[in-house]
Amino acid sequence: MVQYNIALIGFGGVNRALAQLVAERNEQWQAELGFRLNIVAVTDLDLGSVVSANGIDARMLVETKFERGGFAKLSGGSAEADNEKVIRHAPADIIAEATFTNPDDGEPAVSHCRWALESGKHVVTTNKGPAALAAAELKMLARRHHVAFEYEGAVMSGTPVIRMAKTTLAGACLTGFEGILNGTSNYVLGRMEAGLGFSAAVSEAQAMGYAEADPTADVEGYDVRLKVVILANELLGGALKPADVSCKGISSLTASDIEAAAKDGCRWKLIGSAYRNENGRIEASVAPRRLALDHPLAGVSGATNAISFRTDLLGAVTVTGPGAGRVETAYALLSDIIAIHRAEPAYTTKEAAE
Ligand code: HSE
Repeated sequence: MVQYNIALIGFGGVNRALAQLVAERNEQWQAELGFRLNIVAVTDLDLGSVVSANGIDARMLVETKFERGGFAKLSGGSAEADNEKVIRHAPADIIAEATFTNPDDGEPAVSHCRWALESGKHVVTTNKGPAALAAAELKMLARRHHVAFEYEGAVMSGTPVIRMAKTTLAGACLTGFEGILNGTSNYVLGRMEAGLGFSAAVSEAQAMGYAEADPTADVEGYDVRLKVVILANELLGGALKPADVSCKGISSLTASDIEAAAKDGCRWKLIGSAYRNENGRIEASVAPRRLALDHPLAGVSGATNAISFRTDLLGAVTVTGPGAGRVETAYALLSDIIAIHRAEPAYTTKEAAE
């Protein structure tokens, strides 16, 4: 039986949902996928940390309402010092990083990934920062230490996008993409079409749990810009930084802009796109666009995301699915772990005692 020891870094909605999946589905994974997961550490800036080489009962973990300080403090130092200690020294094969990203430098998530890879541990993360701002360094570290750095959940949560484009579309040349990559802004535009004002629509998106606590990054396009950087670098071989992507959000769109588009048989969508121009340069942007109703992205409604890949052999290939959500994003971590498992024995196979 293959068993992967996993450490959960950040115990918010995503890693809690992963723990719940472990509690409910380990037997199924063992039978269908050939591995099970054993949670050996959890660390959280508010809750504290817990490490157990024998494994922590996942059901107990999700059913217990840990309050602030509910786990132990390990190092006597800061919560980040605890994080570093857990990441470097817990007996984990895989680090599931789901903390947060400062949009300027990707911290603290970038450091978490760096410590894990340096310690010879696989990293699966849903954070945009490491993938958008430090992917080259982190991939190099992963190669050097013969481990994986996987981040499917950084774009469109568990909807298969990055791995799908790299594996299923392999052999067809990908020349670009355009997508609806932020659920909040798409939801807001839909509600504005239904007659709501911008602020009321944003409040609704917050109440529905789509928007970030500060929805600026959602509505001003900054969230999409990071996703465009990730996809352009990963799929088009770029080396873009956020500043290379022109960025305009939806906050300046008015009710009359929305009405005028509807009269012309069109609809506004916030589109993140990148493609290689005839000189081989990548041109990338985030901007609201008026789409004709027969455009493949025009019918994507609510908080749903979608991406349309341009390929030489298939034309446009469009994938639609959730772009956020706790379980949906936890599924992305699972899909990364499945990819790591399937890449074995490229890495060292971990055989647990029967
Ligand atoms: N707030 C984001 C959205 C979630 O609305 O799509 C994932 O980045």
